[in-house]
Amino acid sequence: MDTKIIKIDTKIFDKDVKFYEAALNEAASVVNSGGLVVFPTETVYGLGADACNKEAAKKIYAAKNRPSDNPLIIHISCFEDIYKYAEDVSEDTVKLAKKFCPGPLTFILKKKDTIPYETSGGLDTVGIRIPSNKIAREFIRLSGTAIAAPSANISGRPSPTRFKHVFDDMYGRVDCIIDGGNSLIGLESSIVDMTGSYPVMLRPGAISMEDILEELGIDTDSYEKFIKLSVGSGEKPKAPGMKYRHYAPSTQVNIISGEYEDVFKGVYDLIIESSYKNIGLIICEESREKLSDLLKDNDEMIILSNEEDKLFFEFNKDNCKRKVYAFISGKRNDGGAIASNLFDILRKFDDIEALDEIYSEDIYANDMNMAIKDRLYKASGYNIKYIGR
Ligand code: TXA
Ligand code: MG
Repeated sequence: MDTKIIKIDTKIFDKDVKFYEAALNEAASVVNSGGLVVFPTETVYGLGADACNKEAAKKIYAAKNRPSDNPLIIHISCFEDIYKYAEDVSEDTVKLAKKFCPGPLTFILKKKDTIPYETSGGLDTVGIRIPSNKIAREFIRLSGTAIAAPSANISGRPSPTRFKHVFDDMYGRVDCIIDGGNSLIGLESSIVDMTGSYPVMLRPGAISMEDILEELGIDTDSYEKFIKLSVGSGEKPKAPGMKYRHYAPSTQVNIISGEYEDVFKGVYDLIIESSYKNIGLIICEESREKLSDLLKDNDEMIILSNEEDKLFFEFNKDNCKRKVYAFISGKRNDGGAIASNLFDILRKFDDIEALDEIYSEDIYANDMNMAIKDRLYKASGYNIKYIGR
């Protein structure tokens, strides 16, 4: 399949939306004739099709290799459109939308017949969100319909947050890709189920359950009943996507958790002790600084590259040569930076040949901590080693 690429300079777009109207109209007409368009959002890139067209929805599942029981989120350009696709929109939903939309928040609501079961994965509910990315909203508006869009990755791979990621996964599989640069947030939207008597978070994102409860004036010390992320054995997950392995590079990821100082020492010991192995690392900026100091004092270590986003080195000991590829997630507490880098880092490991193991420091961010941990832990298959006290 030929894939047309539309490149948008966000600086020009922000000043003059009309500049790209012809190009975005072309993308909209692809969707209107049942085709697939990858488009940028503030969370991750989406693989879009007309949400009301069942044949188009089926094409999404095929392009992603996605199991057909995993429902799609639909994207609209303004809140009023929600009434075209959803039933029983509660006052709480309206209140939350006023505060957080457009933005990285998806509501699960009872669906109307305008949304076919092919889009909703056979469910009577539908996920709806209004992206804050302006290119996305203009593209949706011009299409005149709702756009069904999962993340634009091959199923199981990390969601795409850079144009390169969608190009790698989707070129030749879709009719059009809109290149809007890097995703601002870098993790998928928070999903909140609004179909019950109180809101329940099914996937954490940039908007936390605390934010939501505060907005609704719900006072609580226990968040347990408001958050249903993973499920016990035999229980059917509320967000069907949660039962599938996610975000994983082809090499096993191991998480090292504990007090930060212990974690750093643990990671360093692993580097020194594991023989005959090439290692990938995810570490924070503070660890990069400490590690590069230690390397400087060690004759067996040769630094290959030491930059803002990576520290690569070679380790020669007992006639055994191996490499360590450390990627820097961001400053230890800077959730915004870590979120925007995480999927990019997870994907970069797949470009490295002969990688034997990946270790990641656990995440200790001030914001988005729950969302980042959720993705990182899933990438590791919950392979977490606690060390220290
Ligand atoms: O930020 C995002 O939400 C991105 C961008 C493109 O908007 N989209 C995204 O879609 O992450 P996807 O398909 O990769 O993840 C959607 C998740 C899946 O786990 C799915 O099972 C769940 O949402 N979901 C969708 N509709 C649902 C429904 N009606 N009930 C429960 N879970 C639902
Ligand atoms: Mg996804």
